[in-house]
Amino acid sequence: MNLKIPTKTQLPLYKASPTLEPINTRQTQTARRVYIETYGCQMNVSDSELMSGILTQNGYEMVDQLEDANVVLLNTCAIRENAEEKVLNRLVHLHHRKKRQSDLVLGVCGCMAQHMKTKLIDAAPYVDFVLGPDAYRNLPMAINSVTIGDPFLGLKLDKGEDYADIAPIRVEGIRAWLTIQRGCDKMCTFCIVPFVRGRERSIPMQLLVDDVKRLVDEGFKEVVLLGQTVNSYNDGTHNFGDLLFGLSEVEGIERIRFTSPHPSDATDDLIEAMASCDKVCNYIHLPLQSGSTRVLKAMRRTYTAEAYRELVAKMRARIPNLAISTDVIVGFCGETETDFMETYNLMAEIRYDSAFMFKYSSRDGTLAHKTLDDDVSEVEKGRRLKEIIALQESVSHETNQRLIGEVVTVLVEGESRKDPDRYQGKTDGFKTTVFPKANSEVGDLVRVKVESTTAHTLIGSITK
Ligand code: 5AD
Repeated sequence: MNLKIPTKTQLPLYKASPTLEPINTRQTQTARRVYIETYGCQMNVSDSELMSGILTQNGYEMVDQLEDANVVLLNTCAIRENAEEKVLNRLVHLHHRKKRQSDLVLGVCGCMAQHMKTKLIDAAPYVDFVLGPDAYRNLPMAINSVTIGDPFLGLKLDKGEDYADIAPIRVEGIRAWLTIQRGCDKMCTFCIVPFVRGRERSIPMQLLVDDVKRLVDEGFKEVVLLGQTVNSYNDGTHNFGDLLFGLSEVEGIERIRFTSPHPSDATDDLIEAMASCDKVCNYIHLPLQSGSTRVLKAMRRTYTAEAYRELVAKMRARIPNLAISTDVIVGFCGETETDFMETYNLMAEIRYDSAFMFKYSSRDGTLAHKTLDDDVSEVEKGRRLKEIIALQESVSHETNQRLIGEVVTVLVEGESRKDPDRYQGKTDGFKTTVFPKANSEVGDLVRVKVESTTAHTLIGSITK
């Protein structure tokens, strides 16, 4: 495994329970080799890197093959029911493995762990421990406690936990994920995130500036700032706009991206930073969720369809060539055909570069689950989803087609998966681009003339 060695000051990992020791202080323990399987969003990818950092500091070896591991951690997602089903199915498979490999330790971590709590143990009694997103410091302790008996539960949410002192272990590459903010205070009625990730907290700007300097030293060219509502970042002194300006000053970082912002926090400061900092990419993921103000209100999204439309217009006017992607939910409680058509029409009007589209999935614990009827049938949800997917496919295709003949700037990330003679990378607007290597190298910013496109990829050659 090609890993980055952590370089942050190594601070004590144990905050919560000083009485239990980390595993590497135990004489009797056999070598532990840990494999982490990550589900869900980029935040989980980043959390898995954090978990690797915690474990490595405590003497564990990280492996990238399940077969080589005697500790398997599933870092899970709870956003929709099917995300949890996937993990439950995976656990059945791992149970078979556990029967054959008696020393195998199995831990479920992350959002689904926090959501299901002890119900997860009821569903899969062979799971050795369950750790929520604010309990990762307890990982060594949890693994250690397996011999003691009862499954270890780490399910306390902790607004004070930002893991700012932990050095994540990143797989080498060009793009690094950097968590700047954790938790969410928005309380959208459909969303499980505030319940599994707790309240918002931001990492102080100076630490993040230092992190980005360190990433540059490690060879990264691009940083993606992560947070559940990334643009509500506030460390008490600096807001998200300040952070973008501050990080842009770091020499050697070529590109800065961020995900996912909330439209209500897309302030003029943010727009100004995007417009005036060259390194901040002209790309924003701006979750719409619904084009119906009535549905948005039921979702408690805190903006109207009109305000969203105006925001997009303002951003497009201020930031030339802005690429926009979005998230949309169809079939939310009470969504009528008229509401749905408002979503469809707004998507057609805005013409997103890409979109993630979902059927509403009622989540236990949310306000919608408690107070609203999940009254759109599965069949109807499926039909609506299919319609917006078809719309988006055609818009994305047309948008890409229009780029034929244009020159785009691409950060070279590595070899194309399909052709070793070609490189692939992303444009400023986050479009995957494939081109013959010519004399370029991984990490270069190159100009590529677009010659053709597939549904989701630009194809071209390097030009002067
Ligand atoms: N059902 C369907 N989609 C959901 N999302 C969040 N919660 C739900 C849910 N209960 C979608 C939203 C969000 C994205 C990450 O997942 O569109 O922006």
